[in-house]
Amino acid sequence: MSGADSKGGARFIAFEGGEGAGKSTQARLLAEALRARGHTVVVTREPGGTPGAEAIRALLLAPPGAPWPPQAEALLFAAARADHVAHLIRPALARGDWVICDRFVDSSRAYQGGAGGLGDDAITALHAFGSGGLRPDRVILLEGDEAALAGRLAARGKAADAIERRSADYHRAVAAAFRTLAEADPHGFARIDALGAPEDVHARILAALGDMLA
Ligand SMILES: Nc1ncnc2c1ncn2[C@@H]1O[C@H](COP(=O)(O)OP(=O)(O)O)[C@@H](O)[C@H]1O
Ligand SMILES: [Mg+2]
Repeated sequence: MSGADSKGGARFIAFEGGEGAGKSTQARLLAEALRARGHTVVVTREPGGTPGAEAIRALLLAPPGAPWPPQAEALLFAAARADHVAHLIRPALARGDWVICDRFVDSSRAYQGGAGGLGDDAITALHAFGSGGLRPDRVILLEGDEAALAGRLAARGKAADAIERRSADYHRAVAAAFRTLAEADPHGFARIDALGAPEDVHARILAALGDMLA
């Protein structure tokens, strides 16, 4: 099912892209713009968004033991998402709220499926089982030059988590995997240039959602 089953024109929008691409910044700006148009908006994030999924997030980003084997990591992401979809996202869409999610299943497809080597079929199967295969109505994929985005993260100065600390090669593979997903589904994904001032990026995003905002 897609978020299109939701009430009254409410939409489910996911932000995707690598670390530092501006997902959290742009999710916030989009929520403000939608609220200014009179919509009720739920802003949430993955992994997390509900108490159960936030508890799983802590396990994922700071593994209490040895690094999670890739399969275990994929299962934990899918479990967190199943809780988030059941307890927060589907109820919000059923009420007629817009939902803006900072990362969703395409992050699992790009990180665990693509860069992590598990393959897209495995991740898609976990998502079908865990979350009924729920898809965003549109994915905003923020893309930009690797060095520029790394500079932003350095400026943010927050300690990197277990996934952010992975190699530049891994993150390059993530970006390539996102690109492949977007190319395969040009209607479902809007590829947005993440470079430039936040307000300029925001304007590109509003333009890419123009058909939904009419
Ligand atoms: N368009 C932009 N230009 C410059 N810096 C930005 C821009 N968008 C976000 N930032 C800054 O870059 C850092 C990463 O942005 P953030 O939204 O947290 O990215 P993400 O959620 O994708 O990791 C933050 O410090 C943020 O304030
Ligand atoms: Mg963020």
